[in-house]
Amino acid sequence: MKLSSRISGVSESATIKLIDISNRLKREGKNVINFSFGEPDFDTPQHIVEAAKRAMDAGFTHYLPSGGLPELRVAVADKLRVENKLDVSPDNVVITPGAKYAIYAVLSSLIEDGDEVILFDPSWVTYEACVKLAGGKVIWSTFNGISEAITPKTRLIIINSPNNPAGYVLGRKELCEIADLAIDHDISVISDEIYEKMVYGSKHLSIGSFDGMNERTITINGFSKTYAMTGWRVGYLSAPEEVARAVKRLQQHSTTCATSFAQYGALEAVRGDQSCVVEMVNRFRERRDLIVSGLNDIGIDCQMPDGAFYVFADVAACGGGDKVTEELLKKAYVIVTPGGSFGPGSGSCIRISYATSMDQIRAGLEGIKTCLA
Ligand SMILES: Cc1ncc(COP(=O)(O)O)c(C=O)c1O
Repeated sequence: MKLSSRISGVSESATIKLIDISNRLKREGKNVINFSFGEPDFDTPQHIVEAAKRAMDAGFTHYLPSGGLPELRVAVADKLRVENKLDVSPDNVVITPGAKYAIYAVLSSLIEDGDEVILFDPSWVTYEACVKLAGGKVIWSTFNGISEAITPKTRLIIINSPNNPAGYVLGRKELCEIADLAIDHDISVISDEIYEKMVYGSKHLSIGSFDGMNERTITINGFSKTYAMTGWRVGYLSAPEEVARAVKRLQQHSTTCATSFAQYGALEAVRGDQSCVVEMVNRFRERRDLIVSGLNDIGIDCQMPDGAFYVFADVAACGGGDKVTEELLKKAYVIVTPGGSFGPGSGSCIRISYATSMDQIRAGLEGIKTCLA
């Protein structure tokens, strides 16, 4: 059957493809070290699980309003006002089945055919796919080249700090520069802040709180990374009311709503004890330090990332991202993600996720050392 040009223009997600390869190798009995995961390896904290179980027992197993559980929208709006300094009410908030769907829904609601969307190279793989699915055109840019990337067709800039895959955190100065350009050229900004809690020294700032940005920013976030809830599929966005209403309309006709009892779990996550988050972040910090020092010892030069749970290492000296990914897989059963999946200028790099145990990191470093020596 003939497929639409929109879906034909989108390739399979590189990271999901790697998970399939890892599962196959495991079935074959290989000792696979997987550095490609984009999800915390911790269990969802028990108080969150209990809240969802209670909701199921109490019969909250039916449709919810498409915008989300009203109490959760209130709790998210409170969180965004207090922590992120955003000027929002529950009417600006939409609960979605994951942050990924929020990105898809916003782009589908805002983009006309041929509109241009600026992405920084490297960027998380899903942005490009969602822009294309919405009929838009991706314009790749570096942070310093952004003014040259802007044209009369530019509709949006997507930023992601802390960043997947590069691990950087945008500071006030950089965010101000982006905000000034957005205001001067009347461009909107999608700010994906899903890794906001995974910062190891720097402070996370929300661009939507900057002067003149509230009305032109869509802030995306979710529960997957902060609370190890990837399978629950609960995310959210906050946006100017007309955009929030459009996304709700899209949800009414596509997913209806995020899963009801999962939203009760999310309510407990946002309102409950936050010490689980501190613990997980501390563990990520130890792993980051181990992997960066291990890679530097092997002779792979990489910066210490400030946020998220990825290291983006330049392996041009070993033949580049694609070659190194293939060799690591074939010779050491170590799975990393090739940098070229994240942008046309990132092919010399590999992404290593340290969302795995210290023992796996040590074993993976050994594999990398033997393979690349
Ligand atoms: C930058 C970024 N945004 C969003 C997501 C997706 O989050 P969710 O599980 O809430 O859809 C990911 C997952 O890898 C991510 O890396």
